[in-house]
Amino acid sequence: MSWTSEETYAQTRLPVERASTLNPDAYRSVDYFDSERTHLFTNSWVAVGFIEQVTDPGQVLVRNVAGRSVIIVRAIDGQLNAFLNVCRHRGAQLITEDCTLAKRIRCPYHAWAYGFDGECLGTPLFEGSGIPEEQQPVFDMSATKEFDRADYGLFPVSVDTWAFLVFVNIDGSAEPLSQWLGDLPDRMAGYGLEEWKIQAVNPYDIAANWKLIAENFMEYYHLPWVHPELMKVSRMDDHYRWQGPGMYTAMTTTPVTQDDKSGWLDLPPHQRIAGSDRISGRHVTLFPNVAISFLPNHAFVIMLDPQSPNRTIETTTVLTHPDSVDTPTASEGLDKLSKFWDEVNREDIAIVERVQIGLSTPEYQGGRMCYHFEEPVHRFQNMVIDRMCGIDRIPAGDSPEVASRFGPPE
Ligand code: FES
Ligand SMILES: [Fe+2]
Repeated sequence: MSWTSEETYAQTRLPVERASTLNPDAYRSVDYFDSERTHLFTNSWVAVGFIEQVTDPGQVLVRNVAGRSVIIVRAIDGQLNAFLNVCRHRGAQLITEDCTLAKRIRCPYHAWAYGFDGECLGTPLFEGSGIPEEQQPVFDMSATKEFDRADYGLFPVSVDTWAFLVFVNIDGSAEPLSQWLGDLPDRMAGYGLEEWKIQAVNPYDIAANWKLIAENFMEYYHLPWVHPELMKVSRMDDHYRWQGPGMYTAMTTTPVTQDDKSGWLDLPPHQRIAGSDRISGRHVTLFPNVAISFLPNHAFVIMLDPQSPNRTIETTTVLTHPDSVDTPTASEGLDKLSKFWDEVNREDIAIVERVQIGLSTPEYQGGRMCYHFEEPVHRFQNMVIDRMCGIDRIPAGDSPEVASRFGPPE
């Protein structure tokens, strides 16, 4: 089976009304998983965290992307940089967890030091090492033949931001992030997302392939059976496609129904949100690994970190605009909201874990898609295929004719 040739995916390339889902090995085979790291995760903009987590000089995030450990660091001059988390000497991992560093990145092994811009500063620097001054020359590399530390800076990784998110692209070959996102920044412009702040974070360890979690988020076909409570605020009939050009899938719930139990609308909306944005939920899966529900008063973010074909670490984050928590009852509202999302999320996790088990049945070779509900899944799976087959393509949005079949765009 060649994971990088079109023939492998012929059944998913068909128009959605005739298409079948991806070959199940794409969710269960180690060989496919390795290939996906190389062909999909190195050349895509992968979400790794939130701007708010790297605002101060020396603040560092450590994340896994495409089987590599990556450092994202705020430099002294305010620039955001990213590097592979490996020392250029004998390859030690430089930093193990999120932290704030005072001046530089220092390797724990032989103390080679690097600036926040990745430059190799010295080999090693001695302050705080306890090595007496007269012994320091022994460690100095400056006399080493044909060694110029300028050649041994950290391996750079492309990094960029949008809204409240930080993205990296390992090999630097992805289209600029502004193209990758398509019309999403325009669509979301009214939310003032760069001002939103983290309110709650929850990790989940899920026994399922990362694509199953992403695909589950983007279809509402399963709502009546998996989420009876969610249906009260997110009625089937109020869902519409909301698809413009870009590496994302999107649907909208318009209007979001008020329901006391969910807490979805307990907090006041961000004051500047207007028009349809003020009464809607926008549910966006940004290829490949982040899914977001934007509500007028909060956002719920799912970020996926694939560990193996059948295991994914998911981190969920609730964010709000400061306006929405500027009330005496904000903390109660946030608690209710977090509890509600946790329940919905656990319902989703239980079902995707069952899909992972079912998919492992050798006789199962993929299933047909339901046109009305699963076009986003088809769009997403075709984005997967494009990356695997080396096709740099940013899919178009709905034509007015297609959009009208699924209800009003706003
Ligand atoms: S491995 Fe980093 S200084 Fe030696
Ligand atoms: Fe769900």
